This record gives sequence, structure tokens and C-alpha cells, in this order.
Amino acid sequence: MAAEVARRRSFAIVSHPDAGKTTLTEKFLLYGGAVHLAGSVKARRNQRSTTSDWLELEQKRGISISSTVLQFEYNGHRINLLDTPGHQDFSEDTYRVLTAVDAAIMVLDAGKGIEDQTLKLFEVCRHRGVPIFTFINKMDRPAREPLDLLDELERVLSINAYPVNWPLGAGKEFKGVWDRHTKMAHLFERVPGGAYRSPEFTGSLADPLIREKLDPQTYETVCEEVEMLEGAGTTFNAEDVLHAKTTPVYFGSALNNFGVELLLDGFLEHSTPPTPRQSMDGATIEPHHPSFSGFVFKIQANMDPQHRDRVAFVRVVSGKFERNMAVTHVQSGKKMRLSNANKIFGSDRETVEEAYPGDVVGIVGKSGFSIGDTLTEDAAIRYDEIPYFAPECFSYIESPEPVQFKRFRTGLEQLLQEGVMQGYELVNATRATPLLGAAGPLQFEIVQYRLKAEYGADSRLEAAPWTVTRWIDPTVEAARLKAPHGVRLAHDRLQRLVVLCESPWALRYFAEQNEGVQLSSLPF
Ligand code: G4P
Repeated sequence: MAAEVARRRSFAIVSHPDAGKTTLTEKFLLYGGAVHLAGSVKARRNQRSTTSDWLELEQKRGISISSTVLQFEYNGHRINLLDTPGHQDFSEDTYRVLTAVDAAIMVLDAGKGIEDQTLKLFEVCRHRGVPIFTFINKMDRPAREPLDLLDELERVLSINAYPVNWPLGAGKEFKGVWDRHTKMAHLFERVPGGAYRSPEFTGSLADPLIREKLDPQTYETVCEEVEMLEGAGTTFNAEDVLHAKTTPVYFGSALNNFGVELLLDGFLEHSTPPTPRQSMDGATIEPHHPSFSGFVFKIQANMDPQHRDRVAFVRVVSGKFERNMAVTHVQSGKKMRLSNANKIFGSDRETVEEAYPGDVVGIVGKSGFSIGDTLTEDAAIRYDEIPYFAPECFSYIESPEPVQFKRFRTGLEQLLQEGVMQGYELVNATRATPLLGAAGPLQFEIVQYRLKAEYGADSRLEAAPWTVTRWIDPTVEAARLKAPHGVRLAHDRLQRLVVLCESPWALRYFAEQNEGVQLSSLPF
């Protein structure tokens, strides 16, 4: 058990769309031996039959909506890579996946630096305190100065940025990286399409062969930069990485495989095996706790249109999971047997006989599970891992066809339970139309699509004006609060009071009008 836990790493790659997350994922699979020719994941995606093509909608739009869990072996490690949906309109799914990981790799485009979604996802990782590794990708394209990028990381994210390696050139002159620990330069050769491992040449900067391969200007700049790094006197502090105070930074090009292996090796060395979690009674549940326990962090319904089933993705926290084992579903108090457990790689399924902390198991066909629920052999354990995230868009939804109303209600209720979006109720509402909140507008489209495809119910959306949500100190009563123009009070599904604001300005005004009332972007 101890050995199985120690060799596991469960993480997600977070990035702004187009920074290179899919490419890097694929290169990890290539270096891990899980795919033999890079390009196959994407090519299959283009053939519309692959990894996360679970929803027809997803195929139509050619984007990845559902998360996938990829498991592969690398140098004796068992790696669980939880894929986060990457699209402009990202959803709460993306956030939730981050509750199930022990570390994250943040991918930046070297030409762009930190972008909007990188920042949001980083904040969620930091909130959870997981170690964050940074990969500065696309060094083969015109890139910003490495120092400028590091400075931005420190300024915008308030985290120490420790460059583990340093780029040898940029753009067309990008040849590889210099490793600060071994003081060795790694030069790579480009291979057609980056389809297989790039041949690598290693030597010290003084090595004439290295010098020969770099153009004189790049060589000179690199020597100066390396001297400066050495002179800066900062040392690598592994503890600071584990406590998310420092992010180790790696440079490279995922497309060309430059620096991918160094990143993966560095990540495996310095990230953490599966971590303990808090049970709601305050007990710390260590991975080697004798009883199996885990929590549902994602539910995907109707993944297989032929079977119309539901898959609950469970992150194993402690103990050994065995197929057919009897567990308690803590929220309902029911005892059940987990016979239909699967490993899911896109649309392919494989039965899981056993799983260890850090692994993700897909339980097929059980209804009654909600996001955040605990499954365990020891009914005293109960996790509270899934936070609600403040929605940034709202919409009313109604059924235009009275004959379909029952189906509409049933479908909406199930989608709410699944957590596709959040339901809100305005205080002193003047209409009974359900109000939905989501992290991105794409989620409303998914709701409409699924209501129609799975429940046969048409629906009509009407955009609501709020863009900023804050939870209000639970000791405060709604009647005591002043709600100026542009602001409404509401309750979430758990009857917690929130304020919905039309703009950040309206939120500031609300805060001024209600001085001393605590507000939070996560529930109290
Ligand atoms: P994402 O999942 O973060 O959205 O990004 P993805 O990997 O899909 O990469 C976005 C685009 O950037 C792709 O090009 C990809 O080939 C390119 N890219 C990724 N890494 C690198 C890199 O290191 N260097 C360069 N030059 N490009 C990189 P695309 O044209 O949108 O797609 P495709 O036609 O190449 O598949």
C-alpha cells in the first residue's frame, strides 16, 4: 500500500486556451509510452471519435467540454492526469477537477505570459494550496524576455518564481534549455511534427559542441544570463514548492518536445504523492488509512447514448478500492456494492479491479450521487471538498411548451443535482422562473442542449444582468441589508444568502452601503 501511494501523482494542467495544454498532455503520453506517435490524440479528436467526445454538442463545436482522466506509467510512477476542459467559456467542471488533484502544471504561452483564465485557475489552485509548476511553452516562437515573464509571475500571482532551467535562445534560435541543477545544456533536434521523441544532446556550456550549435549572439546572451542566475544566489527550496510559495519554472516547446521530459521528471521529483484530506469531523484521513474512502468530484450523465447512463467520478482518498466492495454512500446513509467500476479513457472503458489513493474511478449507473458525496467503508468519514464557485453569468430558463413542463422540470432538477450549473432564488422574487448561475455562458447552452437531447424538453433562455456574485456572512439577515440599484439579494440551493451585482462597481457600492458585512467569493 505504501509503495502504491508513494509512486502515484495526480495532477491537472491548467492554462488559457491555446497556450498548449492539449499538446503538452499528448507529449506526456508520448514520453510515458501511452501513445506511440504524437498527433494521434488530436487526429482522433478530429475524426470525432476520441478522448472526450462524449457529448454530441462537443463534437459539433469541436471543443472539449467534458473532463477526461488519463492514467499512464512513467519511470515507475503511476500518473493520473486529470484533463480540464479548455475553451473560452470554461465551466465549473474545470474548477471542480482541481479539487481532485494534488498538484497542477500551469502552461503559459511565452509570447503572451499570464492570461485571463490562467489567473482564475491559478487562484483556485492557490486556494487549495496545491503545488504549482510552470511550463513556459512555445519558446520556438517569438517570445517575451524570460526575465520579464518571471517578473510577471511574481508580480501578478504573488508567488516566487524559481527558473529550474533557462532557455537557450528563442524563436527560430531556440535550441534547448540549460538545467540549473546539473549545470548542463540540453539541446534538442526538431523531428517532423514533433511526432516522436526528440534526439537530445547534453553538455556543459563550455563544451565546444554546444557552443558550435548555438549562434554566437545566443551563446553570448545565454552565458551572461546564466552568470546572472548563478550570481543571484537563490536556492531551490523543495518545501516552498510543496507549500505553493514557489513555482518551479521550466521553459520549452511542447510541439517540438523540447524540455518536456525535463518538466515531467522535475515535476515527479518535486510534487507530492496523494495527500491526506480533512473529514468534516476534523479528523485527518491519511492515504494509508485502512478503510477505503473517496469523494465524487464530477458526474457525467448519458456518456454513452446507447445506454443513457451516469458516471460518477470518484477520487480515491484512502485505503484500497476493490471492485464489488461494499461501501456507504454517506449522504444518504445507504450501503451499496460498487460492482460497475471503470477506468475511463475518453469513450473507452475498462473495468477496474483495484485502485489506490490518488486514482480516479468511474462508477457507472448508480443514480442518487451528487457532486461532493463521500463513498467509504468507514461511515464516520465525510468529505466536504467541493466548493461552490461564484458564477459570472446568470440566465432565467423557462419551458415554452406547457405540455413539456414536467419533463423540463425533471431534467432541470437532475442537471442541477449533477452540478452542470447552480440554481438561485431571488429574495422577494416577482416571478417563479428558475434562475441559473454559471461560470461561463457555454454552460447554459449545454443545459439547453441536454434538456432537449436527454429529456425531450425545449427551453428558452433570458439573460439576467448580474456578473459578480458574493456570499454574505451567514449571521446577517437579508432584511437588514440595503440593496442599491444594480444589486439583488438571492439564496443559493443550500439557502445561503448571496448578493448578485451588475458590475464590480455595484459590488463596491453595496459593500459601502453595508459596512462591516463580510462578503466572500467562496461560500463561508
Ligand atoms: P490548448 O489545449 O491549450 O488550447 O492548446 P493546444 O495544445 O491545442 O495548442 C494550441 C495551438 O498552439 C496549436 O496550434 C498547437 O499546435 C500550437 N502549439 C502548442 N505548443 C506549441 C509550441 O511549443 N510551439 C508552437 N509553435 N506551437 C505550439 P493550432 O494551429 O491551433 O492547432 P494544430 O493545427 O497545430 O493542431
